[in-house]
Amino acid sequence: MTVPVSTQPALNIRLLEKLRSAAGPQAVGELGANRDRVLADLRTLQAFGFGLTWLDGDRVAYVGPASRLCPDQIEHELGTVIIGRRIVVWNRLTSTNDLAARLGATSGNEGLVVLAEEQTAGRGRRGRSWSAPVARSILMSVALRPPSRLADLPWLTALGAVAVAEVVAAAGVEPGRVRIKWPNDVLVGSRKVAGVLVERGAVVVVGIGLNVCQQPDEFPSAIRSTATSLALETGRDPLDRSELARALIQALDRHYLRALQQGPGALNEAWRSRLSALGRLVRLQTPAGTLAGRLADADLGAGLIIESADGTTQRVPTLSVLDLDPV
Ligand code: BTN
Repeated sequence: MTVPVSTQPALNIRLLEKLRSAAGPQAVGELGANRDRVLADLRTLQAFGFGLTWLDGDRVAYVGPASRLCPDQIEHELGTVIIGRRIVVWNRLTSTNDLAARLGATSGNEGLVVLAEEQTAGRGRRGRSWSAPVARSILMSVALRPPSRLADLPWLTALGAVAVAEVVAAAGVEPGRVRIKWPNDVLVGSRKVAGVLVERGAVVVVGIGLNVCQQPDEFPSAIRSTATSLALETGRDPLDRSELARALIQALDRHYLRALQQGPGALNEAWRSRLSALGRLVRLQTPAGTLAGRLADADLGAGLIIESADGTTQRVPTLSVLDLDPV
């Protein structure tokens, strides 16, 4: 059975933020004028799962985030225009992409964000599965109805990848180590920290899986040597997944809005500058066959420029690139 978790009593996130930003324990009396109200709000936060510790019954300190996603915290001062107008958080779904596709088809649900703590049939690209331990990553899907100029798969995949890359860097990973591996992987160094899966039906769904808290033994053995998580890369533990989810929604919205106003090229430099294959020797699979050469340049609109050994160049539209691998 799936259980929505967004039916909790409203949490006083402003109070939580006040406590979190304080250098140390705070007297309850300093957290608000109505002592009983403050105490009740603190207990509600604690009951939700936020780490609060009480000292001598009258002072309280923030010790850490809730281990489960908190809808109120994600929505707190979100400030987005399209993406995140509505957010639903579920304990367990087949795939967040499934629910986003279903709910996104209802008018008024453009920008809907679906998050889940667990997927029973998470999907990756090319029919692969996407597995993640319960409540250790971000499993998110966004339903969009992009205008035709923003509706191609490589552009939407790049949107997801750029937003994730920015969040990963902002979480404390050295920005130069955060790369985008064509078409949909976000890497830290040579290890994959996130993947993007865009699916198109009645609406477009941009699905993102971001490894956050996983330790090495939490990855399936087949990907243990190639996967990583934010916790492993930053050494920070615990990480606040609700804050990260909020930052991801904000980054997606920022880039999407800019592209709506300025066109798809507005995303180009943020994408191109992180492309791991740029300047490297690559092999491209296209419907017309395989092509090898140096990836001399990349542009989401104009396509990929492949330079052969004899110096001649060829432009391949992004839509014609089925796969791109380093040689
Ligand atoms: C890949 O790397 O192949 C893409 C992985 C995408 C995984 C995410 S998790 C949230 C959303 N729901 C899914 O079933 N898949 C995407």
